[in-house]
Amino acid sequence: MGTRITAQSQSAQIRVLVLLSVILLVGLWMRSDGLSRFHHIRSVQTRSGHPVARLVEANQAHLTKLHSEQSRTLKDARNEYHRRYHRQPPLGFDTWFRLAREHDFVLIDEFDTFMESLEPFFGVPPNVLQHRLQAAFELEPDRFGMIKFEDGSVNMSEGVTGLFKRLMPHREWAEYIPYNVTLLVNDWDEPMVSVPFPEVTKAKEAAQKSGMGWPKDSSATSYSPFDFSFIETGKQNGWAATSQACSIESPSRQLSCSLPSVEDPLNFVTDVKSSRDVCQNCDLLATHGLLVSPGNMHIAHSLTPIWSASKPSHFNDILYPSAYYVGARDNYDSDFDNAWEEKESNFYWTGSSTGGWATSRTWNHMQRQRMVLKTNNLSEPIQLLKEVSNREWQPYLTTMDEVADHFSTRITNIVQCTDEACQTQKEIFGIPEEHHDDPQEAAYRHKFVLDIDGNGFSGRFYRLLQSRSVVVKQTIFSEWHDDRLIPWVHYVPLSTLYAELPELARFLATTEEGLRISERIARESTDWHDKALRDIDLQLVWLRMILEFGRLMNPEMHT
Ligand SMILES: *[C@@H]1O[C@H](CO)[C@@H](O)[C@H](O)[C@H]1NC(C)=O
Ligand SMILES: *[C@@H]1O[C@H](CO)[C@@H](O)[C@H](O)[C@H]1NC(C)=O
Ligand SMILES: *[C@@H]1O[C@H](CO)[C@@H](O)[C@H](O)[C@H]1NC(C)=O
Repeated sequence: MGTRITAQSQSAQIRVLVLLSVILLVGLWMRSDGLSRFHHIRSVQTRSGHPVARLVEANQAHLTKLHSEQSRTLKDARNEYHRRYHRQPPLGFDTWFRLAREHDFVLIDEFDTFMESLEPFFGVPPNVLQHRLQAAFELEPDRFGMIKFEDGSVNMSEGVTGLFKRLMPHREWAEYIPYNVTLLVNDWDEPMVSVPFPEVTKAKEAAQKSGMGWPKDSSATSYSPFDFSFIETGKQNGWAATSQACSIESPSRQLSCSLPSVEDPLNFVTDVKSSRDVCQNCDLLATHGLLVSPGNMHIAHSLTPIWSASKPSHFNDILYPSAYYVGARDNYDSDFDNAWEEKESNFYWTGSSTGGWATSRTWNHMQRQRMVLKTNNLSEPIQLLKEVSNREWQPYLTTMDEVADHFSTRITNIVQCTDEACQTQKEIFGIPEEHHDDPQEAAYRHKFVLDIDGNGFSGRFYRLLQSRSVVVKQTIFSEWHDDRLIPWVHYVPLSTLYAELPELARFLATTEEGLRISERIARESTDWHDKALRDIDLQLVWLRMILEFGRLMNPEMHT
């Protein structure tokens, strides 16, 4: 009895087991196929694979989304403006929007980088700003161009070069500027305004509260007429001269900073803006010339509306498109550029040792020297990734000789240094007495071209984007175009530490997947350059910026 019952219950157990197995198998089948159409499973799957491939994919999706969200009508654009900046757009905005649409201006809402640089100035009365601007010009007339708009016409100071004239909106565009306003444009490569953290914080708070109103009777004499000076900090420590722009609590203002070791996880640049935040990333203080020992820096510590082409995060210059980008465009000749397939699969850079003033103590902290030393030193310890199973990557330690064949980097000229540091560097970098620079076209023989900061923004960047090569860009400078050039889509961002540089070369220059990705970036950057960085785009951007600044300086026209 018991046996039968047992047999029966056994067979019942078997049936239950079979049933459970079937359910389990169906479940597994559904997970592998049936459910994969659900979003969360797909996103889990894209989280495997090489980190660079994932970054490229994510940023391509970001750009597609950004495109689709842009305003199409004036009404949308005005609403979007108000949503972002909590103000009405300036007078003349409607005309600007019409012109921008007429000229197929892409990413028409994206001005956040510029607007962020402008924001603190809304917290200072315009007559104070005007006074400082005038004082700066009088102290250093050779460094600036002054551009005045008055009653719809424009007048430029002697210092405004031919290049600036090319960047100015068409003369008739001056009619579109309803404000009387003066621009002070920094003609040098280094930024000039770095304001202590508490003052910027206070100005930003005032900017939010003030709306557009300042007391009508506020006159320059009710403020100190002597609140402007330039402090010369060239050839001294650039960080010490500007550190007060960071909160006293910020990591960079602590008394010690540890640089990551070769065994720490490789960090590819995921967020360009936070990766170059000087207050948050203390490693920058020891790895960039502008922070270690700038060549020739004049700093204003009061909020002064000086327009500069590039600046690190702890500077307050107003960002504008450099005139040299227009000049650089003419330098590109596609006849000298090779087809992608004909280019050598390596990373190329040559240039001079600009970036800061080099002494025996400082030269090997500078970004260009460090990059060239690292990529040419076969025994330098590095970290690479290897694919251990399908789409799973693991790090391993090795030395530079494993990827050195994929670099062609050289310093061709030693400049900005003490006699001793010049001599040392000439020996180490093997500079012959008669130095020679590679011709510009030499870069185009390589699939990857590095773009490494000098003293300021890079004059070769747009030309290289335009070329059929991939730009691999290291910079701590923000520029007006930061909202329009998307990392991993239009160029490959590179950290100032360069820890990830060897793996970038290994993956992009030697693997099938990497080369496929790279070819696409090379193509997209050329297309994008011709679509988003045309002369007309830079001119439209100027016009828009002048309107924004005109409004800031003429709040009474809005009350
Ligand atoms: C431009 O400015 C200069 C110097 O301020 C002045 O002499 C000249 O008359 C101005 N030109 C026009 C057209 O306003
Ligand atoms: C601009 O300046 C001119 C000359 O000083 C003046 O006549 C005009 O009223 C000003 N326009 C505005 C909008 O302030
Ligand atoms: C090359 O790297 C090794 C190991 O880090 C280091 O000891 C050596 O000084 C480096 N050589 C140069 C020229 O930088």
